[in-house]
Amino acid sequence: MEETELFELLGAHRTVRRFAGGEVDEGLVERCVAAAQCAATSSHVQAYSVIRVRDSAERERLAELCGGQRQVSEAGAFFVLCADQRRHRLVVERAGSVFRPDFDAFLVAVIDVALFAQNLALGFEAAGLGVCFIGGLRNRLEEVDRLLELPSDLFALFGLCVGEAAEEPPRRPRLPLGSVLSEGRYPTDEHVLAGVAAHDRAMARAYAAAGKPGRTWSGGIARLFAAARRADVGAFYRAKGAGLD
Ligand SMILES: Cc1cc2nc3c(=O)[nH]c(=O)nc-3n(C[C@H](O)[C@H](O)[C@H](O)COP(=O)(O)O)c2cc1C
Repeated sequence: MEETELFELLGAHRTVRRFAGGEVDEGLVERCVAAAQCAATSSHVQAYSVIRVRDSAERERLAELCGGQRQVSEAGAFFVLCADQRRHRLVVERAGSVFRPDFDAFLVAVIDVALFAQNLALGFEAAGLGVCFIGGLRNRLEEVDRLLELPSDLFALFGLCVGEAAEEPPRRPRLPLGSVLSEGRYPTDEHVLAGVAAHDRAMARAYAAAGKPGRTWSGGIARLFAAARRADVGAFYRAKGAGLD
């Protein structure tokens, strides 16, 4: 693939939330998962597992648990991406040692899953399919965990819907390049807020075009992070074996 083709693919990303019916081919799934495994992985730990959920009743229930997100049941395929420390525990204990996962090990696993998941999504996008990550999977995490009978040391992080797109969403603007890239030192607060203002203007236009005038990016962020969200997730992961201290 030419560099420009890859950049075009990256630039063409849009989250798809409406899917036409139709299964996602198992051969394609295996090719995309194998490609996802090519992502760099900290100390080669490969701290991820992905579970494809096929059962339609389970998909319906998961859609409900994810906050009534119908793409979870309607997409051609739905995957649950997990940070996997179980494999490591089994290996350590088989070697006669005590498994001691700490916060850094958990971070390593989450980073590994994120890199794996982005490769996975990109593989599906390269095949012309649409994708939607589902962080809503953590809304009612305990129920999701019970439904999928996930063992200890396996931490469901988010879902991924994949399938033929039944919509063509517009591209969502991103922060200006100069807001996320700096030289040598992190920029001043004035510079940060100037970038936010520029992004607010771009997003206000995008919202207005989508029939939602008056909205801004910073308004959404101010609401999002001023309230406690999914406050029980850390305690749940800890109870399943994550070392979060
Ligand atoms: C980890 C993660 C979780 C997400 N969770 C959801 C979700 O639960 N539901 C949803 O509709 N979109 C979800 N998204 C998609 C984001 O809302 C979307 O990427 C963002 O608004 C930017 O839009 P774009 O992907 O079309 O550029 C998630 C994205 C990521 C990376």
